[in-house]
Amino acid sequence: MAVTVELQRSPISLTLLCCLTPILWAFPFGPLLELDVIPRITVPINGLLGCNHFHGSAINYSTLLLEEGAGILYVGAREALYALDLANVSATRNGSAIDWAASAEQKRQCLSKGRDNQTECYNYIRFLDRYNETHLYTCGTHAFRPRCAYIDVERFSFVRFEEGREKCPYDPAKGYTGLIVDGEMYSASQYEFRSNPDIRRNFPFPNLRTDEAPTRWLLEADFVGSALLRESINSSTGDDDKLYFFFTERNQEQTAYTSQTRVARVARVCKGDIGGLRTLQRKWTSFLKARLVCSVPEYELQFNVLRSVFVLEGASVHGSIFYAVFGLEWKNVKTSAVCQYSLRDVKATFDGPYMELQDSKWREYTENVPEPRPGSCIMDQHRAQLINSSRDLPDNVLMFVRRHPLMAREIQPIGGRPLLFKKSVDYTRIAVQKVTALDGRTYNVLFIGTDEGWLNKAVTVGDQVHITEELQLFKEPQPINNIVLSHKQRSVYVSASSGVVQLPFSVCVRYTSCYECVFARDPLCGWNGTQCVDISSYPDTSNLIQDVQMGNRGCENITADGSVPQRTRSVMAGDDVLLQCEIRSNLAVPRWTLNGEQLQGYGPDGGYRAGADGLLIVGAQGRQSGRYCCYAVENDVWIPVRSYMVRVQPVSRPSLHPPTDPTALPESFFTTASVLPTRPHGGPTEHSPSVAFPFGPESQTSRHKEALYISLVAVLGGLCLVLTVVLLYITFCLHSTPSGGKYTQQGTLVTAPTDRKWSSHMELKTISSHCNGRTEHGGAASMDGEFLQIVPGQGFDSPSEEPPPAPPLPMPPPLPNAEYANGFSSALPSVLRKMNGNSYVLLGQADSDMTSPLYHSFTEELNKILEKRKHTQLEVQLDESSL
Ligand SMILES: *[C@@H]1O[C@H](CO)[C@@H](O)[C@H](O)[C@H]1NC(C)=O
Ligand SMILES: *[C@@H]1O[C@H](CO)[C@@H](O)[C@H](O)[C@H]1NC(C)=O
Ligand SMILES: *[C@@H]1O[C@H](CO)[C@@H](O)[C@H](O)[C@H]1NC(C)=O
Ligand SMILES: *[C@@H]1O[C@H](CO)[C@@H](O)[C@H](O)[C@H]1NC(C)=O
Ligand SMILES: *[C@@H]1O[C@H](CO)[C@@H](O)[C@H](O)[C@H]1NC(C)=O
Ligand SMILES: *[C@@H]1O[C@H](CO)[C@@H](O)[C@H](O)[C@H]1NC(C)=O
Repeated sequence: MAVTVELQRSPISLTLLCCLTPILWAFPFGPLLELDVIPRITVPINGLLGCNHFHGSAINYSTLLLEEGAGILYVGAREALYALDLANVSATRNGSAIDWAASAEQKRQCLSKGRDNQTECYNYIRFLDRYNETHLYTCGTHAFRPRCAYIDVERFSFVRFEEGREKCPYDPAKGYTGLIVDGEMYSASQYEFRSNPDIRRNFPFPNLRTDEAPTRWLLEADFVGSALLRESINSSTGDDDKLYFFFTERNQEQTAYTSQTRVARVARVCKGDIGGLRTLQRKWTSFLKARLVCSVPEYELQFNVLRSVFVLEGASVHGSIFYAVFGLEWKNVKTSAVCQYSLRDVKATFDGPYMELQDSKWREYTENVPEPRPGSCIMDQHRAQLINSSRDLPDNVLMFVRRHPLMAREIQPIGGRPLLFKKSVDYTRIAVQKVTALDGRTYNVLFIGTDEGWLNKAVTVGDQVHITEELQLFKEPQPINNIVLSHKQRSVYVSASSGVVQLPFSVCVRYTSCYECVFARDPLCGWNGTQCVDISSYPDTSNLIQDVQMGNRGCENITADGSVPQRTRSVMAGDDVLLQCEIRSNLAVPRWTLNGEQLQGYGPDGGYRAGADGLLIVGAQGRQSGRYCCYAVENDVWIPVRSYMVRVQPVSRPSLHPPTDPTALPESFFTTASVLPTRPHGGPTEHSPSVAFPFGPESQTSRHKEALYISLVAVLGGLCLVLTVVLLYITFCLHSTPSGGKYTQQGTLVTAPTDRKWSSHMELKTISSHCNGRTEHGGAASMDGEFLQIVPGQGFDSPSEEPPPAPPLPMPPPLPNAEYANGFSSALPSVLRKMNGNSYVLLGQADSDMTSPLYHSFTEELNKILEKRKHTQLEVQLDESSL
């Protein structure tokens, strides 16, 4: 109903609803959750090992130029360039730094152009590459008046400046890519505010460009990357080297995804292209572009915004793979995907049919194609026809090229779907490395940066991706700008606004047991009997244990895998006892045994509640005495983590009341004591508010409701699509709406209700308020019965400990909309992903459906939900407000 009201109210929201329909289909209830890959371990910044940091006086470290031979990492920042030692980037090499600020006069002019002197009127280094043996070439925005310069490498100083406006964008935030190949500079950007985007060869003279009439080859293109592939090497056809450019541009074709205004593309030009003689004079004669598809077909989820591309060369250049990071068009929906494309598929598309603009619609061109094939490089077959260069190409071929820049076939990713899908994260950069593991196979290891300063390291096993770890590289959330890999130094170099971080490929010593080493599935790590070691620097790898394929074999006979901490707990009958069990791996599931038998009775009547970090014995009874053991179950292996001897002493005593003043209670009281206040009377269920797991049987009905709701939205979506078209003509001229601003706010309005709906199944409450609620409200079960409890624990270093607890409220207050919208995530430490050490999660079920198979997965599910909640960043907020 709310939807219809919304529709009547505003034609804009109606339009947006139509656009967002595919999203609503997939978010947030869909089984899409299952596709989401969870990093195995989470390493906060203070847990990093072996890292070196560089923080110069400048900010906005963006460009990185790695020179392994010389052992130097050149870094371009805002108004400064540095030469760092590859072995240890902590300091510049002999103080090698160049300050390159725009002059005060230039900044004043920039300001007078209406530019922001706090952000835009600086010299941002956008380009840095090797020019020749003795010099580098660099370009900067120079306070909205681009300049380029040659740098003498020996002295690390400028030798000559040049005009930069044809080579470098004015705007520091504008998409840009460029490279120098054999003394030729290629760049792609929308250089000036009003100019059309262009792919150029800037030097040597004569330079080349893309064409604009009668057909524009690029439409508002936003470039993210480029690469040279030397396809002439060992080519049987005498093929040329090619340059590939990756970008997102305005959608001009009619496709299945009509809602999409942007489309991801790859374009290529031949290195030997020198333009046409009469037609396409000083223009590319070999420009072709094609669509890169990255979608989850089952969910009609189409990733269409490219963020970064990495080209991984195979044994030969023809086996190259393009790794591309994608996001969604809606900037407030954080979701990323990684798709991989083979050069063969890209080539096949460029060798396939063309598109043609007919009656202002792009359609596949099915008529005769002139010879030699338009857009192809000059090859042996051309030379046989005495066509030695692009200037010898016949006019009809060039006329065809001019009007057919777009290929008809889309380029599908390898496997037809994303290699990796990640919710709640915006990936910004990717770099990939091949590693040969002990099993003799080659694995691709992905390093992926996020917009919050984290690095995910993942390994591809078959068509699956396993994220071995997520590392927090920067304390302040900030997008990762660049990632480069040095095989010689075995290091990853990552740049962001505040600096550069160098980290080792692998930190195997982090894994302290055989199974941990094996579970990690890091192809660079192996267990030598006593330690997890880096296989690349280990003298004899024949006896190392590693299992990248399955992640569970090889440690069977290793007995001395560390001892299990043992504790004893003596409690009075009727007390609540919390048995802590912290599990480091986000992929492990906790399981408990009592006297060697798997623990039964997690329902409220059974007297236990299990959560991600511990087991709560509710109102302990004599029969619950015994030896408890907590296991972390990962890849079907049970690893003992903690062991407790619990003695329940049957005593009768006067009823005890917990302190009535919640503030008098130290935050850590419950957890350090590990014994919860005695309940006054009665059984465990009587006074405790029933706690429902959101996916429990009870919620089945609400899931149906959701399904109904979704269908409703879909139907309305279709309806409003029609209405939109009408309204578009009648009311607005909404053509060419940029994907940014407008969607951001409106999109939130549409997606928020679904979030809110979801959250109504599960609310967070602290146990302290719960206990208070119980005493103050007596036996009245004032809660509406469905919530999840979180008890703050020791080791509190999250912001949630700072505010003093507010008086208890009967119900948590409604959530402000804004919190769902645009990422409080950046304001809060992502460390909360695992509630370990920060909070306990206690869980019970309203229905005593103990035999339900749901139980067996619910801790897992809970972890997922927590992860999800973490990213919406509700728990801390709620925690505070409900106290
Ligand atoms: C430069 O850094 C500042 C602060 O670190 C950040 O707010 C800004 O967005 C960055 N600018 C660019 C163009 O990266
Ligand atoms: C790198 O250099 C810094 C200071 O120059 C030093 O503190 C650090 O220990 C060095 N790192 C390594 C791994 O040697
Ligand atoms: C920006 O310009 C304002 C005047 O418009 C001036 O007061 C301010 O100091 C300038 N800031 C910087 C960083 O130059
Ligand atoms: C490299 O280029 C610079 C700048 O054009 C020039 O001065 C220098 O002589 C060149 N060096 C070589 C080895 O060609
Ligand atoms: C192409 O090159 C061949 C040999 O290099 C030469 O004989 C021929 O005349 C050239 N043709 C044109 C059209 O330039
Ligand atoms: C473990 O020991 C058993 C018997 O001693 C042996 O058969 C088996 O191969 C061993 N497994 C491994 C992985 O070493």
